[in-house]
Amino acid sequence: MAKPKTQYVCNECGGVSIKWTGQCPDCKTWNSLIETIEQKSTGNNRFDSLAPSSKVQALSSFDAQDVPRFSSELTEFDRVLGGGLVPGAVILIGGDPGIGKSTLLLQSLALLSKTRSALYISGEESGAQIALRAQRLGVSDANMQFQAEIGLEAILHTLQTLKPEVAVIDSIQTIYSGELTAAPGSVSQVRECAAQLTRVAKSTGVTLIMVGHVTKDGSLAGPRVLEHIVDTVLYFEGDTQSSFRLIRAFKNRFGAVNELGVFAMTEKGLKGVSNPSAMFLSQHNAGVAGSCVMVTQEGTRPLLVEVQALVDESHAPAAKRLSVGLDQNRLAMLLAVLHRHAGVACFDQDVFINAVGGVKITEPAADLAVLLAIVSSLRNKPLPTGLVVFGEIGLAGEIRPALRGQERLKEAAKLGFTHALIPKANAPKQAIDGLIVIAVERIDEALNKLREMDA
Ligand code: TYD
Ligand code: MG
Repeated sequence: MAKPKTQYVCNECGGVSIKWTGQCPDCKTWNSLIETIEQKSTGNNRFDSLAPSSKVQALSSFDAQDVPRFSSELTEFDRVLGGGLVPGAVILIGGDPGIGKSTLLLQSLALLSKTRSALYISGEESGAQIALRAQRLGVSDANMQFQAEIGLEAILHTLQTLKPEVAVIDSIQTIYSGELTAAPGSVSQVRECAAQLTRVAKSTGVTLIMVGHVTKDGSLAGPRVLEHIVDTVLYFEGDTQSSFRLIRAFKNRFGAVNELGVFAMTEKGLKGVSNPSAMFLSQHNAGVAGSCVMVTQEGTRPLLVEVQALVDESHAPAAKRLSVGLDQNRLAMLLAVLHRHAGVACFDQDVFINAVGGVKITEPAADLAVLLAIVSSLRNKPLPTGLVVFGEIGLAGEIRPALRGQERLKEAAKLGFTHALIPKANAPKQAIDGLIVIAVERIDEALNKLREMDA
């Protein structure tokens, strides 16, 4: 068989050239040419897509059944997946090296293999290494198949002949297609391999889980180039210093995003944490200035997280604004609101904020906690003990309600918090046992209430 020809396609304009050049000859963008396999147009399958073509039908003529699912055998993993694995679905799991991607998938496959055919393909570790790990995880008696392989064509052959129900590819960056000259891990290899694997998964009904490494600079050759090809994108988060690991769904064609799976890394692998709400509170005995506890809602679960702020006199011409786990641009905006609507100025102060435990908070309901932590640090005065807050802050200084306020308050009460400072619109109609609710409409009002509580 003749070797398929490759060509270079511009990422920006789609222009094609036969040689690689630094600049696209068509749109003049630099570094945008990517090597791809030339697709011969053969009559009617010119627009060869991932799905087989079908005739036009009225949407109402389809019966909208729920997709069949099966459990990954790990409850927290099922939760982020939206209820379990779907036959033929392609899932990408991204994350920093060493965070636990291989461990999680090995555990899940080993448990799955009791009832289903499962295949683990590794381009990074040998069979002996994986077997050793399986032994450590206590699952060495599992009935799963293993192949150490990095050639795409061999992997496609295995998938088509073995037709396992679930297959793991660890990792997509190590797989290469012999038809491309680019090195494994390069954008063109990663993209081509993922597209071909996806096509095979769709046609054979194999549930395919691909591991992707996130590179330090984020985009290049990382899983980001694959996000539109696959059905589900999951990211591992967490501090490698702490034992907690979070898996977050970024895209899910078969379920909700922003659902969070919580695990603890132990000596015997990852263990699901079913009640994680108090995990991100640091254990202070007495109140500390600059610390504020908020209730955030991740997917269907409320989670208590401590937000810390440090405000310190700045000696640089431009004061620093740094945030870890929270949105940096939002911090600048919140400081402006604080100055304009509550008269608290921080222009000559460096401001650092941090969400404890390596958690990332994406929802704006963290605003009030951020501002209260900042004010507390600025005045060097701890917030009242047992206080929990949430609420979004608008540019006019108003405090806007957060979704599912009731659930958040109940969770806080359950964990022994006694006071809640929350948006007026979230004030509960019925009192919650053990919780004094202080409902406010504006940021200056919130600060006044705090002062009253201290008095
Ligand atoms: P690994 O799953 O290899 O990470 P990745 O595939 O994401 O690169 O795992 C990583 C870390 O987890 C490794 O540093 C050791 C630790 N670990 C444990 O703490 N307990 C265990 O049972 C296992 C298997 C790993
Ligand atoms: Mg690994």
